[in-house]
This record gives sequence, C-alpha cells and structure tokens, in this order.
Amino acid sequence: MSRQGNTTGARVTLHMVSSLDGFIARKDNSVSWLDANGSVYEAGVSISEEEAVTFLKAIDCYVLGSRTYEHALELGWPYGDTATVVVTGRKLTSTRKSVEFYSGNLKTLLNEKLAPRYRNIWLAGGAMLSQRFLELGLVDEIRLTVAPVLLGDGLRLFGGSLTEQRWDLKNVVAYKNGFVELSYCASTV
Ligand SMILES: NC(=O)c1ccc[n+]([C@@H]2O[C@H](COP(=O)([O-])OP(=O)(O)OC[C@H]3O[C@@H](n4cnc5c(N)ncnc54)[C@H](OP(=O)(O)O)[C@@H]3O)[C@@H](O)[C@H]2O)c1
Repeated sequence: MSRQGNTTGARVTLHMVSSLDGFIARKDNSVSWLDANGSVYEAGVSISEEEAVTFLKAIDCYVLGSRTYEHALELGWPYGDTATVVVTGRKLTSTRKSVEFYSGNLKTLLNEKLAPRYRNIWLAGGAMLSQRFLELGLVDEIRLTVAPVLLGDGLRLFGGSLTEQRWDLKNVVAYKNGFVELSYCASTV
C-alpha cells in the first residue's frame, strides 16, 4: 500500500531507537542497552554538542504515549521545555508547563491542535501510539536509529497488526559509536 503522509502542512516524524532484533524496550524497562558499547566504527560520523542542540531546537513539539511519558519522568525528562503532548485516556496531571494531555481522535489531534501551532512535530513513541499514527497515515517520516545490540526479548517496535506500507529510504547516517540512523519517507508510488 502506498500513502501520502499527512496533508496538514505540518511534518510528523516518528523517531525511535531499536535493537538489531527489533525491540524498543526491555521488559523491565531498563535502558542500559541504549548506551554505546565503546566500540568505534571508524568510517562513522559524530555530532558535536552544539550540533545536537541546534537540531533539538528545531523540534517544535513532541507527542508521546502515556507509558513513554511516565517512563521519561522516571528517567529524567529528556524533552526540555519543548511543548509536549501526551496521549492518554486517563486524567493525568503534570507540574511541567510544557506538557499537555490529549484524549480522543488522533486525526483531530493533528489537524486541530498540532498542525495550526507546530511545523516540526516529533512522535517519540512508544510502540502503541506510533502504531496508531502509522495505521491512520499520519506519519511523514520514519527515523529509526538501530543500536548495535541484540536484546532477545522486550517490547516490539511495532506490533503484528500493521498492514503493508511502502516507504522510501531517504538517508542513512552511520555514527562512530556503531548506531545507524535510517530515514524513510512515505512512498508516493
Ligand atoms: N527505544 C525508543 O526509542 C523508545 C521510544 C519511546 C518509548 N520507548 C519505551 O516504550 C515503552 C512504552 O511504549 P508502549 O508501546 O508500551 O506505550 P506508549 O505508546 O508510550 O503509551 C501507550 C498509552 O498511550 C495511550 N494511547 C495510545 N494510543 C491512544 C489513543 N489512540 N487514544 C488514547 N490514548 C492512547 C494510552 O494511554 P492510557 O493507558 O493512559 O489511556 C496507552 O496505554 C516504554 O518502556 C518506553 O521507555 C522506547
């Protein structure tokens, strides 16, 4: 199946880090597997702190599933003061000014709440919310960072119920630490 991405003018990028065997989290939620293992891929690139800051500054808004949100709070909030929308059916409260909660239709979320305010929207997981966005055709770009590790078990990147979708490879960046970033855009053919 080919698809067009969302039609709002805003750009939705789905970003996740996966193990080589397709897991995004361990069952016990530990994250040590995300650390570099010390090996060096000589032909790879590395980015400076300055470049990373500039890159992150260009993100207008993050969208998270509630479980990712709760895990991020435990780990130490990685999203700074950037606007963050957490999708949940529960009544959650936050002390962070940048966080708001949303419950309801995801197309309405994008069309009526996000697109009028933000251009560069990052859907940062987890698996469940990302899958819903993909099923609804709301993702323009998939940025998948592959970590050089086999986990053997854990939470799958996407569950089994997605129907076939074709995506076009747009960019590949190999980093010195052995992580590889793959960027795909919604296929137009
Ligand atoms: N490796 C990575 O790059 C990466 C990235 C992100 C997250 N993670 C990890 O992934 C795990 C969490 O992922 P997950 O798949 O379990 O959960 P998730 O997608 O983060 O959150 C699922 C929750 O989001 C809400 N939700 C999802 N779709 C909804 C909809 N259509 N309408 C209303 N609410 C909706 C529900 O919240 P309520 O139950 O509150 O109603 C649902 O229980 C964590 O361990 C996290 O650390 C890894």
